Amino acid sequence: MSGWRLIADAELQSRNTFGVAARAPWLVEVEDAGALGEVLALPELQGPAPLLLGGGSNLLFAGDPQTAVIALDTHRTDILEDDGDLALVRVDAGVEWHALVLWSLEQGLMGLENLALIPGTVGAAPIQNIGAYGTEVGEFVRTVEAWDREAGNMLRLDREACAFAYRNSLFKQVPDRYLVAAVEFALPRQRALKLDYAGIPEELAAMDAIAPTFRDVAEAVIRIRRRKLPDPAVIGNAGSFFKNPIVPAAVADELQKQHGGLPVFRGDAADNRKISAAWMIEHCGWKGFREGDAGVAATHALVLVNHGAASGAQLLSLARRISESVRLEFGLGLEPEPRIIGAIW
Ligand code: EPU
Repeated sequence: MSGWRLIADAELQSRNTFGVAARAPWLVEVEDAGALGEVLALPELQGPAPLLLGGGSNLLFAGDPQTAVIALDTHRTDILEDDGDLALVRVDAGVEWHALVLWSLEQGLMGLENLALIPGTVGAAPIQNIGAYGTEVGEFVRTVEAWDREAGNMLRLDREACAFAYRNSLFKQVPDRYLVAAVEFALPRQRALKLDYAGIPEELAAMDAIAPTFRDVAEAVIRIRRRKLPDPAVIGNAGSFFKNPIVPAAVADELQKQHGGLPVFRGDAADNRKISAAWMIEHCGWKGFREGDAGVAATHALVLVNHGAASGAQLLSLARRISESVRLEFGLGLEPEPRIIGAIW
């Protein structure tokens, strides 16, 4: 037995950024992704598909998971190739996302600067195709190494095969089939910076960054995030709890007519638009709402927070009420962004 450790009746409160109490019948800490085949064959892991846990920053334990949980404790970052223009970097799934962003900035590698300070691990990044301030991680993914539970072996999936879309990917569509073990990124040494997202130009101006570098962009993103998004180390949360709904352009036009000021953004196709869920939630009066220890952040209406002892079930119930009130007011239900464990949305 090497490369992994099996723990019975494991506590998960310290392993999810909402900080809600939950226990797993079995937890396996895996230090070598090469041991995944052996781990998945353990008698304790038979039955329903185990849950692969990264930083626990994109899930809500609405109840105890009924399955075993696997945590990848792997930490290598290697430059595989570097021709001076583009570097190919292979990163283990267990590496902290923001640590990778800081490392890439130090190496002079661009691309991840708009994605600074996103909580979670590298292995989780491709699953929901993390995105912020006009960039999505899928743009820089070359290959994902994943264990395929169906085939029983490690696979290499190229970017096309990963089917990246807004907060979506192959891994989210087929949630139990693949366990992401490592990600290879293609990071350029030069690229046109993404500076147009609302808030970024203002922040760069406040920093006196007249000819901003990619390091300035990262700094601007860090400042905005620190101001708007609660730090999970201080107050439990999982970032945006809801996705921005994507609707046909005609529906967006109609909604904007009825609700002056509703922010509407480009969608993922010419004929659709992304509507601001935060604005609708705020409009329904939820921003800063608190009931017991479950609430909505006072600084950003998309973020549900655990003020201390909220249960996952209480947070889920609040989320459902929010979605229902938005549906009544705007005719659009909201979909949660994090994975809900132990209950059905
Ligand atoms: N807004 C409000 N009330 C609020 C917050 C925002 O009305 O409390 C309105 C503002 O008008 C603002 C607009 O909503 O112009 C958009 O706000 P923001 O720039 O914060 O973006 P978002 O669409 O609410 C998305 C991501 C965030 C990401 C930001 C910045 C989703 C679900 N969320 O939020 O991602 O940081 O853009 O790029 O797409 C996350 O996924 O966990 C996350 C934090």
